[in-house]
Amino acid sequence: MNQHLQHILSIIQQEGNLSAEQKEALAKSIKNADKELEITAFKLDRTEKVKRTTAILLEETIAELEQKRKVVEETNDALQKSLADLRAAQAQLIQSEKMASLGELTAGIAHEIQNPLNFVNNFSEVSTELVDEMNEEITKGNIEDAKEIANDLRQNLEKINHHGKRAGEIVKGMLQHSRKSEGKKEPTDINALCDEYLRLAYHGLRAKDKTFNTEFKTEFEHSLPKINVIPQDIGRVILNLINNAFYAANEKKKQQPDGYEPTVSVITRKEGNKIEIKVMDNGIGIPDNIKGKIFQPFFTTKPTGQGTGLGLSLSYDIVKAHGGEIKVETTNAEGSTFKIQLPIS
Ligand SMILES: Nc1ncnc2c1ncn2[C@@H]1O[C@H](COP(=O)(O)OP(=O)(O)OP(=O)(O)O)[C@@H](O)[C@H]1O
Ligand SMILES: [Mg+2]
Repeated sequence: MNQHLQHILSIIQQEGNLSAEQKEALAKSIKNADKELEITAFKLDRTEKVKRTTAILLEETIAELEQKRKVVEETNDALQKSLADLRAAQAQLIQSEKMASLGELTAGIAHEIQNPLNFVNNFSEVSTELVDEMNEEITKGNIEDAKEIANDLRQNLEKINHHGKRAGEIVKGMLQHSRKSEGKKEPTDINALCDEYLRLAYHGLRAKDKTFNTEFKTEFEHSLPKINVIPQDIGRVILNLINNAFYAANEKKKQQPDGYEPTVSVITRKEGNKIEIKVMDNGIGIPDNIKGKIFQPFFTTKPTGQGTGLGLSLSYDIVKAHGGEIKVETTNAEGSTFKIQLPIS
């Protein structure tokens, strides 16, 4: 029993003023109090134990969380690293893609320039021999023969010049491809630009070939807003599309001279926040098997000396640089339609 209660109990038992029953009742109360005290002490002890176990558990949980935090941190680091690796791999891929297309382009260029160069080399070699022959004839006094050889020489030199110029055209086209445009963007009236280049193309072709005769039509939407473009560049795109269209129409005229009216139309309109330019012809059309190639540099179906095959690939680059799109909208035996879309702002 609790010693304080024990003390109280012994005092009560020695007290002379209390009856035996009173003493017994008090002793019972004290014993009950002692029991309750014991129970409370026991509970307290248990709470203490629970507290201690909880503290231990808490510590363990904290340690576990710390462990998990470390794992997350490590995973994060690993993720960062693989992201960096991925970025590096992507950059590498882009670089090798560039190298590959550069290689392709170089091969194309080499092939394109090799042809005219072969002509220049062959004709100049033959011409050197012709000069020797001419000298011999002159020495012999055969002036007529010498004159004939001089004529051949002249023709050869013309051919050398023609093929030299062709190589020059190819190089010029390539330079236009790689060089950044020098022009500045300015608010441009697309209808006026189309009209200007349509006339330029028509008269350019008429000057080269008097028999060239194709009708041209325009359907311009008159309320077009001006848009910010480099006029010379977009002009060059339009010119190339129109030239291609005239060419295709003219080819068809050669195939069926009777009852066919070669026609080229240029149509403009506003479509949402874009301006659309369509160049339409009723020419020979583009066969399915070459449709995928026409935007490739140097792809041409024109006879040697008549086209570099850079027109559409240049046009593609220019339109892309303006944030627009260029594509073949339709093509079949009835003709082709090319569509350019340019953003309004
Ligand atoms: N309107 C069209 N109709 C039929 N074929 C076309 C048309 N436009 C383009 N093509 C085809 O696409 C090819 C490539 O066109 P692109 O303008 O790039 O070069 P090119 O016209 O041949 O040469 P260049 O533009 O140097 O004169 C043409 O050779 C032709 O086969
Ligand atoms: Mg062209």
